[in-house]
Amino acid sequence: MLDSLLDPKGVIARAQEMAAQAFGAQRTFFATNGTSTANKVIFQTLLAPGDTLLLDRNCHKSVHHGVVLSGARPVYLDSSVNRTYGLFGPVPKRTLFAAIEANPHAKALILTSCTYDGLRYDLPPIIEAAHAKGIKVIIDEAWYAHARFHPAFRPTALEAGADYATQSTHKVLTALSQPA
Ligand SMILES: Cc1ncc(COP(=O)(O)O)c(C=O)c1O
Repeated sequence: MLDSLLDPKGVIARAQEMAAQAFGAQRTFFATNGTSTANKVIFQTLLAPGDTLLLDRNCHKSVHHGVVLSGARPVYLDSSVNRTYGLFGPVPKRTLFAAIEANPHAKALILTSCTYDGLRYDLPPIIEAAHAKGIKVIIDEAWYAHARFHPAFRPTALEAGADYATQSTHKVLTALSQPA
């Protein structure tokens, strides 16, 4: 009656379909261990040992753990630093475009948008450049699950064309324990 998260066919399946509709996704999967686990599940799906992954060096530690688990070869991209406010920001666009050009065989690119401090990317041109090389784009939206519901915060990663978005429901929406 309560359905199974591992093989949903009842209320959880229906809830995932409704969430997909609400968030503008083709499919939504609930996870019980946060964006941390969601990031790692995607890596296990997309990456084989030796594959190249482009990533912001400043990504969450779950991303670095995912690199170790998958055996992928990481190409680290340095974030910008806002010295006025003492914050790390997004990876500069020129760095991203150069990395995509230099690693056309990369399997995936993962970025954090918005960052912990609320800074976000101009995603559409970045995703377009990655897709032109066949590189999948994963956006860690751990802190941006609410964006779909306010016009000032859009486009969301999925609206900008990302292949995957991971979100921490327990951070910026409402959830019991640590769902994503
Ligand atoms: C950017 C980012 N991604 C992922 C996570 C992990 O989120 P969760 O607690 O949902 O596993 C965090 C946690 O702070 C985070 O800041």
